[in-house]
Amino acid sequence: MSDENIVWHNYHVEKSARVKQQGHKPCILWFTGLSGSGKSTVANALETALHEMGVHTYLLDGDNVRHGLCGDLGFTDEDRQENIRRVGEVAKLMVDAGLVVLSAFISPFQAERKMVRELVEDGEFIEVFLDTPLAVCETRDPKGLYKKARAGEIKNFTGIDSTYEAPENAEIILDTGANSVADSVNQIIAALKQRQII
Ligand code: PPS
Repeated sequence: MSDENIVWHNYHVEKSARVKQQGHKPCILWFTGLSGSGKSTVANALETALHEMGVHTYLLDGDNVRHGLCGDLGFTDEDRQENIRRVGEVAKLMVDAGLVVLSAFISPFQAERKMVRELVEDGEFIEVFLDTPLAVCETRDPKGLYKKARAGEIKNFTGIDSTYEAPENAEIILDTGANSVADSVNQIIAALKQRQII
């Protein structure tokens, strides 16, 4: 909802000044994939590596954000859409602050991922698809959630009775079944260097 009585203020310190001070460009690394695909694991390992390199980062993770900012949301399609909308707006603010934002959400729908992509400048949204097959995620089942979903104890579980729309043009595709976490981290760091973000 917009209001004609609310006026946009321009800040004195601009994004370009912050970027110059930070020594690297900002972006959103948008991790998407099924539960258990490795989003949080790879994003955490990547953030550690980037932090050690002096890159200014922030990790937004589904499980954590759902304790606060999105604590009122569940797992219906509508709630997932609102979850990603809010996270996208927060990530946009963090990009404006000059950060490399790592965002780890299932984010199952193409439309909301596109919406976040369009919130930031060209080249600032880097989609990272954890292309881990459902069978692999279900075997890992680190939180025992697939078992509960199969037993009907959790409804609307992604991949079981809720849809996951795989990205068609992700900038980075990770095969976590075949590659180690370190391999995935190196793949992403190489892509950030190639794009001259870091
Ligand atoms: S979404 O679809 O992007 O809004 O989901 P997200 O905010 O990333 O939250 C996913 C984590 O919530 C836990 N969980 C569920 N996931 C999927 N479907 C259902 N019904 C569900 N209920 C709880 C689960 O731990 C997810 O974490 P990850 O890290 O993806 O396994």
